[in-house]
Amino acid sequence: MMACAIVSTISSASAKQPSLASTPPMGWNSWNHFADKVSDSVIRAQADAMVSSGMRDAGYIYINIDDTWQGVRDGQGVIHPNAKFPDMKALAAYVHGKGLKLGIYSSPGAKTCAGFEGSYGHEEQDAKTYADWGVDYLKYDLCSFHDEVMAKAKTKQQRHRLMIDAYARMYRALRDTGRPIVYSLCQYGVDAVWNWGASVGGNLWRTTADISDNYDSMAMNGFGEAAIARYAGPGHWNDPDMLEIGNGGMSAAEYQTHMSLWALLAAPLLAGNDLATMTAQTIALLANREVIAIDQDSAGNQGTRVWMQGTNEIWAKKLADGSRAVGFFNRSGEMPDANLEIKLSDLKLTATVRARNVWTGSDLGKLHGKIQIAVPPHGVVLLKVTPSAAD
Ligand code: GAL
Repeated sequence: MMACAIVSTISSASAKQPSLASTPPMGWNSWNHFADKVSDSVIRAQADAMVSSGMRDAGYIYINIDDTWQGVRDGQGVIHPNAKFPDMKALAAYVHGKGLKLGIYSSPGAKTCAGFEGSYGHEEQDAKTYADWGVDYLKYDLCSFHDEVMAKAKTKQQRHRLMIDAYARMYRALRDTGRPIVYSLCQYGVDAVWNWGASVGGNLWRTTADISDNYDSMAMNGFGEAAIARYAGPGHWNDPDMLEIGNGGMSAAEYQTHMSLWALLAAPLLAGNDLATMTAQTIALLANREVIAIDQDSAGNQGTRVWMQGTNEIWAKKLADGSRAVGFFNRSGEMPDANLEIKLSDLKLTATVRARNVWTGSDLGKLHGKIQIAVPPHGVVLLKVTPSAAD
């Protein structure tokens, strides 16, 4: 009986063609910068800035409301937003009117992580409400479901089963609305979510604890993804958490590392800063078209580490056109620059290549046999390396 249930979950989910999230979702999420200060006016201002900054046209489409929007349920059990969001349907229409999409947040538990109303026992009803409002994306965060429901089960297997069933239930509820809604699993990577996230309809799943706006947190999440690259692909992505670029806690070199690493990882790119007040430098980091093209490459490969020595690492990602995106990382915060070197054969490339530095836009010309690069502390050099026709 149990085996049948598992199979039916898997087949219904994998039958879904990746028309949704065929490349890693791009957009913005309220949590990292605004936390409980998110409101209707904040969301409208972010939507406006997404367009005026050029970020929408660079591919950032989703405007996602995270935790703390929820009010109470009415007599019929229908969830209503709290006073910060007077009219969700009107807000969705506003966001859609800008050529953007709207995301929302809930939990399989009775309470969200910030203690607001979750979807427990109201999954189908909530999915219908979201669809009726015009929601296009749901982040579903484990939160109290762990302590209040799973913790009561006797065995690890039963706890795991409860979690899988809860995620699958909301997937079916979303699917049954008939509205395409990107489904983002958030349970911090426990129980190897990459093994089963796609089978419960997840388009992306958090693989890590929450990111913070500092190098060590970002590096722990990003560089920690090396072993799970093969689980990512069109329609289902590993998610090392939202971006912190522009929030002020890291240097420009560190934010460049953050963006480069996320692009190599084919990670969802959800900006987490205040788009309405960001600097030109932040826009340049978030909206570099060549870096975004690496993230959004249609082959959907997640890059991985190909070389490591001490605090120096080289990561590579095979792109649809046969070239490689190659990131040279210096994880030391101390001067001087690190000198990194890799043989082209270690990148499975021909002996002669052309290389382009995607952040500076400079062409390195033809290279033979190996690539040598100097990388500043906590910095990165990100290259697009293309086999040369005249090898
Ligand atoms: C955490 C989650 C964060 C944010 C927060 C809201 O569990 O990982 O990304 O959504 O809850 O309360």
